[in-house]
Amino acid sequence: MNNLSGKVAIVTGGAGGLGGATSRLLAARGAHVVITDVATAAGEALAKEIGGTFVRHDVADPAQWDLVVATALKVTGHIDILVNGAGIEGDFSKGGLATDLAEWRHVMSINLDGTFLGCRAVMPSMLAAGKGAIVNISSIVSFMGTPTALAYGASKAGVEQLSRSLALMGAQNGNKVRCNAIHPGVIRTRMTDNIFASFAAAQGITAAEAEAGLCTTIPLGARGEPQDIANTIAFLVSDEAAYVTGASIRVDGGWSVTSAG
Ligand SMILES: NC(=O)c1ccc[n+]([C@@H]2O[C@H](COP(=O)([O-])OP(=O)(O)OC[C@H]3O[C@@H](n4cnc5c(N)ncnc54)[C@H](O)[C@@H]3O)[C@@H](O)[C@H]2O)c1
Repeated sequence: MNNLSGKVAIVTGGAGGLGGATSRLLAARGAHVVITDVATAAGEALAKEIGGTFVRHDVADPAQWDLVVATALKVTGHIDILVNGAGIEGDFSKGGLATDLAEWRHVMSINLDGTFLGCRAVMPSMLAAGKGAIVNISSIVSFMGTPTALAYGASKAGVEQLSRSLALMGAQNGNKVRCNAIHPGVIRTRMTDNIFASFAAAQGITAAEAEAGLCTTIPLGARGEPQDIANTIAFLVSDEAAYVTGASIRVDGGWSVTSAG
């Protein structure tokens, strides 16, 4: 299926677990993918593997977005797709009221500022073309209380709300710039490996035991795979999703509809 042929996609955090799977799938469907990340070696290697372009980029830095947009526009003169996938979980040892302001601001700067800056940088060229597709990676925790990760939960709820406003802006004046939020549950990446390790350390159990315990609360019984998220994003950015905007799509194995989720 080459339904993204001729399209240019920017994927931030494109060297990571979810960003990497998404970059690979969008490229396999015909898009030219501009991978951006602070992880240079991994980003360069993946860009080489999929025939894309890598830009070393900190999403929290507004000036660096200019370079990303200029690089993407050089490919064909338009930017069709933006996936805001860069994110951090923050320091779980500083949860609840132990969250200091520096930690709060650090998490917000990447997860929420970075998403805002990306949309602000890319939307003008999409609006000029009258079309485009943005997917912001929020989290299922945007619907939950997260006392051990105050900043992370608030940042992801902010990403969801921002996506709704952008959906309205993108539909003004007859434009078809779509913006959707995706809410992954517990997906197998470095991030959730780290979260299970820190829960395990706090509870005096192994990371495998922490994972097994949590997975009993997920109706589909396991962590999701990065491909599950990539598949959903590939649909949302495709023309098959032409009438989908302002949506919040949960990809969580049913976790958030249980009382434990
Ligand atoms: N894995 C999950 O279960 C899960 C669940 C819900 C939401 N998410 C969200 O999905 C996104 C991807 O997470 P992941 O699980 O793939 O984690 P990951 O750590 O594998 O990938 C995150 C990527 O973002 C990059 N990054 C970090 N700070 C950056 C910055 N300032 N500028 C540019 N890039 C930066 C990292 O280098 C890394 O490559 C994150 O926004 C995360 O919050 C993940």
